[in-house]
Order: sequence, then structure tokens, then C-alpha cells
Amino acid sequence: MTVPLTQLSIWRDLQAHAKTLKGSDIKTLFQNPLRIDKMRAQVAGLSFDYAKNRLDDHTLRLLFELAEERFIPQRREALFTGKVVNVSENRAALHVALRAVAQEAIFYQQRNVVPDVEAVLEQMTQFVETLWDGEFRGATGKSIRTIINIGIGGSYLGPQMAYQALRHYRNKRLDIRFLANIDGAEFEAVTEDADPAETLFIVSSKTFTTLETMTNAQTARQWIVTALGEEAVPHHFVAVSTNREAVAAFGVSEKQTFGFWDWVGGRYSMDSAIGLSTMIAIGSSRFREMLGGFHAMDQHFLTAAPADNLPFLHGLIAIWNNNFLHAETLAILPYAHDLRRLPAYLQQLFMESNGKRVNNQGKQIDFDSCPIVWGEPGTDGQHSFYQLLHQGTRLVACDFIGFLQPLSENVHHHDILMASLFAQSEALAFGKSAAELAAEGVPEAQILHRVCPGNRPSNILLAEALTPASLGSLIAFYEHSVFVQGAIWDIDSFDQWGVELGKHLAQRILEELHAGQVDSSRHDAATSAAIAAYLKSRGA
Ligand code: F6P
Repeated sequence: MTVPLTQLSIWRDLQAHAKTLKGSDIKTLFQNPLRIDKMRAQVAGLSFDYAKNRLDDHTLRLLFELAEERFIPQRREALFTGKVVNVSENRAALHVALRAVAQEAIFYQQRNVVPDVEAVLEQMTQFVETLWDGEFRGATGKSIRTIINIGIGGSYLGPQMAYQALRHYRNKRLDIRFLANIDGAEFEAVTEDADPAETLFIVSSKTFTTLETMTNAQTARQWIVTALGEEAVPHHFVAVSTNREAVAAFGVSEKQTFGFWDWVGGRYSMDSAIGLSTMIAIGSSRFREMLGGFHAMDQHFLTAAPADNLPFLHGLIAIWNNNFLHAETLAILPYAHDLRRLPAYLQQLFMESNGKRVNNQGKQIDFDSCPIVWGEPGTDGQHSFYQLLHQGTRLVACDFIGFLQPLSENVHHHDILMASLFAQSEALAFGKSAAELAAEGVPEAQILHRVCPGNRPSNILLAEALTPASLGSLIAFYEHSVFVQGAIWDIDSFDQWGVELGKHLAQRILEELHAGQVDSSRHDAATSAAIAAYLKSRGA
């Protein structure tokens, strides 16, 4: 029987240490001249600088001990070897097999899954070639120019984030769009200037049952049928799913179905066939480069000692900030316009994985699990919410992400962008004191308003340039950090039961909307009143 986390003596040691360390702020910690070199590491094209956190060598030693006591190395081994790590659904979470090298053998239920992964990659590659060559044509014989990925959650956030992130490498002849929201306004927006004869839909859904995706797919089908007739459907739809029967029932042939497996979680699927739109955009060799970046970080996470292991360190520092310094949120701040959807992507990765309140033993936990993850690209955020980061009453942990080389020719812009990143992390850590303001001649009455207390923790992640490979490393880095955090908390990072209740209630309410009558025996008074008002406004 595992000892509850908060009853471990190492947990108490960390609590006591947090109190002791309260007296020494980041400025004081920086008096150690060795700190900077020690708290910086580089691997798989990614450098991780964690010196500007409120921690010292002793903190790290305690965190490593905590990791040992929570069997992180053993759990990591289980993750990489296809053991059941998704306890509540009795499944493996073998996303590392999606980016294994072809010669590797990774077994799941006695089957080496690497050849299966390779076969799908090959099928995707061939399909993408036909699109790039203009050989894949719509029903009227026109080449496809517009590709619309229909999917939501993990079947949308990763592909959309990657499409924007790798915009620089895309085939400009093809226009890729994303349709996720059930709001008909989004369907209208993505199709309003599209020519059905040149449009291909990718219906991306692991389960092929998700209400939003299936409704959007049916509307898209109708859009094609109205313009081009029923027989046009096979020419304008492909599907990505584990549910081949439902795909066939929708009318997509086996040849145009790209499969994956129940051991790939939705939020860990951007490097599976769910990434078909990414491969269409950047081509198969660049897609392989992205997988290479993922794989390099996987191998690093699997083999490096904790003190040199980037995802391991990031995960433990996240635990420290969350559970011991009580930073309730983590801000993701990419200094790259092309990474503007990274915060949304990481929201699902972190919060759907670790937003849990029961552990793997089925017991309610008595500590905080996942922080709230949010963010916006720098420098946009600086002119909005950074005020709170610098002077607000809450402690926010921040991840700054930047690139040494710009992709745009405009180096002058890049210097300003990167100067802003460095300045913000410096300002958060070291602030500006009353004495400094007084020395600058700031009037007494204004000094307190202007003080920035500093001592606010942040990490800096830097890569050479935003490339397919560096994107892969970055995403794998966060995947494994999330894994480390979930493993410390001993929660199931791979299920998502919390999303089911809302889906179920929406289905029931939909029945009432279709019947034109609210059934108040099913609802509280406020919900009944809201539904009744909606029905009234719709003339029911
Ligand atoms: O509702 C949550 C969820 O199940 C996510 O975990 C998943 O990424 C998303 O819905 C989409 O699911 P699917 O790919 O099966 O349509």
C-alpha cells in the first residue's frame, strides 16, 4: 500500500524547507556564482534555464528524493514499455511508440506496434504525395486546394497549433483550415470562400462519436452533396480514427481511412495520423523531422539522470511551485507569433491530464493537483496581463519560450522580441525596489505604486529556431513534464472522466429542445428557467 503523499516525511521536509527558504529571495539565491551554470541544461536542441526559480540545490535534492520515493523511474519504464498506466481505463499510453525509430521494437499486448505505426506513416506519406502532386482530385476533376480538418480537443488543438507553428515550412499551394466548434458560425467562417469542388475534409476523431465533430462532419457532407451530388462524397472526405466501422458507415473507404490505436490518448496524438493535416502542410520528410525531435526528447527523458533531465526537472519544479510555493497558475509565454496556439494546446495537455482529485488508489487527494495553465504570446501579453504578473497579489509561475534565430527576414523585430523576453524574466525575478526608485528621484508618494517586488519564478526555454524538430522536442518535453507531475501525485494522467457529465447533460437537454418543452423534473430551477427562456425566444 502506497503511503499517502502528504504523509511522506520527504513531503514534510519539503514543506519545512519552503518555509526556511522564504527568507531568501531569488536575488539572494543569485549570490551563489555557480548557480547560473548549474541551473541550465541543453538537450535535443532545447535549452532549459531554471535559475530564476525560488529554489536552491537543497530544494532540488529533496525533490529528487521525492521522485525516488514516488517510483518515477519505475513509472517511466512502465510508460515506455506499454504497461497499463491509464489505470481507470485499463490502457497503456504508448505515444512514445508513435515516434520510435523503425528498427525499434515496442510491445503492447505481445505485439510489436512499431511496424503498425510505420505502415500508417507510409500510407499518410503516399496520400500526401498525391495531394502535393495535384493527383488527388475532387469529383469534378479539379485538384484539391483547401483542406478542412474537422475535429475537437486532441483531434484539433495539436494539428492547429502545429500548422501555425510550422507555417514557414508549409506548401503554400494548399490552404489548411480547422473546424472544431459546434457553433454554426465556425462552419460558415471556414467554408464561406471555399469552393466545394476543390475542398477536402479530414474527419479526425479517435472515437468517431464526438457530438461536435460528427455534427460538423454531417454538415460538411451535406455541403458537398448540395454542391456536387451524393457520389462526390468519397472524393472529398478522408478520416482519421480508431473506429473503422463508424468511418465506413459515414461513407469513407478503407483506403482513405488513417488509423491509430486505443493506446494513443487524444491529447497525445498530434504525432499520430491525427497529424495528417500537419504532414499535408509540411510534407512527409519534415513530419519525420518533427517525430525525430519528439524521439530525441523521449530518449533523453528515458535515460538521463534526474539532475540533467529536462522534463524531469521541469516537472519537479512545477511541483515545487504548485504544492510548496502555492503558485496556482502556470503562464505559457511563447515569444513567437507562430506558437500562438501553444498555450491552448498545453491547456489540454496539462489540465485534461492532471486536473484530477482522486489518486490511482481511488482515494481523494489532500493536496493541489494541476495548476491552471494559460497564456498568450509575448509581446502581446505584456500590454495586457503582465501588470498582474509583476505587481499583482498572486504568484504566477511563468515559462518563457523563445528562439535564437528568426524565421522572418526582419532581424530588427527579432532583437526587440528577444530583448522583451529577457527583460520580462529579469523584471519578474529582480523587480525594482523602493530604494532604487528613490535614487532615481521618484516622488515619495509614487514610490509604492511603482515598486515591482520581484522574486517571481520563471523558466526560459530556448531553441535555435522554430523547426519541425524543435517543435517535436518542445512538445515531448511538456508531455513528459506532465507525466512526472501526475506520477508524483499518483493520479491517472491519461483518463478524462470529468468531461463526460457535461456531454451527457447536453444530450438530455437537446432532447428537450427538440421536443420544445423543458422537463423541470430533470433540472434545478435556474437551469429550467434558462432552457425555458431559450425555447421561448426560439418560438417554441
Ligand atoms: O471530450 C474530451 C475528449 O475526449 C478529448 O480527450 C479528446 O481529445 C476529444 O474529446 C476529442 O475526441 P475524439 O477524437 O474521439 O473526437
